[in-house]
Amino acid sequence: MRLPKAGTIEIAPSVLSADFARLADEIRQIESAGVSIVHLDVMDGHFVPNITIGPPVIAKLRKCTELIFDTHLMISDPAQYAERFIEAGADHITFHIEAADEPEKLIDRLHDLGVTAGICLNPDTPTEAIRSVAPLCDMVLVMTVHPGFGAQKFMLEAAKKIIQVREIVGPDIRIEVDGGIDSKTAPIVVSYGADTLVAGNAIFAKTDRIAAINAIRQACS
Ligand code: DX5
Ligand code: ZN
Repeated sequence: MRLPKAGTIEIAPSVLSADFARLADEIRQIESAGVSIVHLDVMDGHFVPNITIGPPVIAKLRKCTELIFDTHLMISDPAQYAERFIEAGADHITFHIEAADEPEKLIDRLHDLGVTAGICLNPDTPTEAIRSVAPLCDMVLVMTVHPGFGAQKFMLEAAKKIIQVREIVGPDIRIEVDGGIDSKTAPIVVSYGADTLVAGNAIFAKTDRIAAINAIRQACS
């Protein structure tokens, strides 16, 4: 599955706040809300101070859903592991500019391996760091919290970088935003130029996930 063409607003629920013992059921719920993307947070306990899931879990989830697997690698050596995530069923791989020695080379490799590629920048990383690689990507991910945990407070200053990223990449590349997105912050990042909204806590902390997704959609329309 490929990412939808840039421009449409897509909500990508992050399962980081879901019940990990019932992941397939949790994903079915967001599927019934009509989303096309699920955001999978991979943490290695080294690049970020938390550990989540790896290729074996993603491979099992692949058998449960057709949703686009937007795989957010918060790991120290993305080039070493990317291929294993693709074999497991990732459709899109995002890695961090802070973690990659040769980002251009990795983007080319991801494309050769048949997936779309994303570059991510942390709240403290200036937009300048991705100026040359962002146009080579299919999606740029702007973090609006320090990566590692769900349910943190949205950082408005970090979100403002979306405006600069949009100037760099033009209209044809998706801009995704991750961290503290809910029905209050989503319209702000959309007004800055984001079109792909990751939301974990705002969806999975609610009992009615469909209503939670619709609330974010409505707030942006
Ligand atoms: C944070 C992760 C996010 C996280 C967002 O490091 O990359 O995807 O799940 O969670 P919320 O939406 O709760 O801020
Ligand atoms: Zn994420």
